[in-house]
Amino acid sequence: MTSGISIRNVGKTYASARGPVTALTGVDIDVREGEFLALLGPSGCGKSTLLRCIAGLDHASEGSIRVRGADVASPPEGLGMVFQRDVLLDWRTIRDNVLLAAEFQGLARGRYVDRAQALLERFGLGAFADRRPWELSGGMRQRAAICRALLCEPEILLMDEPFGALDAMTRDDLNVELARIQQDGRRTVVFVTHSIAEAVYLADRVAVMSTGPGRIVEVFDVDLPRPRPLSIRETPPFARHVGAIRGLFSRLGIVRE
Ligand SMILES: Nc1ncnc2c1ncn2[C@@H]1O[C@H](COP(=O)(O)OP(=O)(O)OP(=O)(O)O)[C@@H](O)[C@H]1O
Ligand SMILES: [Mg+2]
Repeated sequence: MTSGISIRNVGKTYASARGPVTALTGVDIDVREGEFLALLGPSGCGKSTLLRCIAGLDHASEGSIRVRGADVASPPEGLGMVFQRDVLLDWRTIRDNVLLAAEFQGLARGRYVDRAQALLERFGLGAFADRRPWELSGGMRQRAAICRALLCEPEILLMDEPFGALDAMTRDDLNVELARIQQDGRRTVVFVTHSIAEAVYLADRVAVMSTGPGRIVEVFDVDLPRPRPLSIRETPPFARHVGAIRGLFSRLGIVRE
């Protein structure tokens, strides 16, 4: 069974008190099974909207989204999502927040307790399993949200700027960890970020979106070998990829040179 995602001519218009807001138009891309696709674009270009539509949490107004060949009507099986804001429940411990993923899918919670602990340890939260979310820093909360998304071994992982709130060192660590997790499980990942360097480091392809309304302007292949040590970021081929994407941003008027 393929765990690819097919996005065909997708448009999304929200009804708002001030009239319709078109967030996406003509979005067309296939995410291949086992591929790491980064979605890069300015604030408000519809990245979160697109992710929510893939996750079946919202519906496209036009076009179609298929996951494993089936139209998305509700959240597909085997899909993990990390939201832009960590959505942790304050009245549950960190462990119980991670275990929510199993509960939501109707799986026996007891079978996942050990895996939850192993994930928390892998993400440096082993000692915090019994704490409540409000006792943790922003970066720790976000790591807990990542553990929750990984709990049920999803084939497809959707991540909405998961590292945006982290300091640079933690972010580097988690980039390496995420690359390993994706490679080990040959997971299909769609990863939203504002950072060109992060997108190039992690992705097989980088889809650049522009505002007004959001569409995919260009898709860049990142042919850097894997596994990628962090030091790859100091190499000329890495700089060339970053430069090419920055050049497009500049032509689009998104960044100034
Ligand atoms: N529920 C909603 N109702 C009305 N408009 C919305 C709604 N959600 C998003 N929008 C609008 O759709 C557009 C895209 O929003 P979205 O959150 O997808 O952007 P984004 O690319 O994720 O931005 P950011 O990088 O800031 O997170 C914006 O203009 C936003 O105002
Ligand atoms: Mg967003």
